[in-house]
Amino acid sequence: MPLIIAIDGPAAAGKGTLARRIAAHLNLAYLDTGLIYRAVGMKAQREGLEPVKAAQMLTPGDLKAPDLRSEAGGQAASKVASIPAVRAELLEFQRRFAEHPPTPAVGAVLDGRDIGTVVCPNAGIKLFITASDEARAGRRHKELLERGESSIYARVLEEMQARDERDRNRSVAPLVPAPDAVVLDTTLLTADAAFEAALRIIADRTHA
Ligand code: CDP
Repeated sequence: MPLIIAIDGPAAAGKGTLARRIAAHLNLAYLDTGLIYRAVGMKAQREGLEPVKAAQMLTPGDLKAPDLRSEAGGQAASKVASIPAVRAELLEFQRRFAEHPPTPAVGAVLDGRDIGTVVCPNAGIKLFITASDEARAGRRHKELLERGESSIYARVLEEMQARDERDRNRSVAPLVPAPDAVVLDTTLLTADAAFEAALRIIADRTHA
């Protein structure tokens, strides 16, 4: 059985950075499932497609569209992500990746909203990464500015809260920690401290 690490949590909690570092450190493959929903949302908008059709027709090239990481990409993602048939369409690919990670990886790290609850309920390790709304909006605002995009903190905070609200209240695969997830609040942690804390949780669980 490959080691599967599920990392879930609200927007901009630092899941991606953490997941990438854990994957590199432990020789695991990494899948950013949010990027898939972003690609479906943007493809539907760009090509005027019905969202389920966009999910069915998704190509590797769509995952490289330049605007995926924008807040518009996040909003488009969370709209299509609330449609059960879109989620169903993307489920098999995510499960396959987790269960048969590309060689030479010895397992996989997936990050998203429903990895521990729906995609990989049998994952050996489940982390739920959170931080205060202000800390998360501050990090996303900084990230956008560093990428050379224009950003207004108050707007980032408002859009992030709207997206979290939609993700928490949808009928299918809502954003919620799995009952067996370890919750890690990173409000007061640097990225390095969050990484160290996650490694300790993983070590505790894998050696138990
Ligand atoms: O980077 P950030 O945390 O802001 O967002 P993301 O992980 O790229 O996810 C973008 C959106 O995709 C989320 O707001 C969710 O609506 C949706 N999503 C989901 O429903 N299920 C997942 N497993 C991953 C993302």
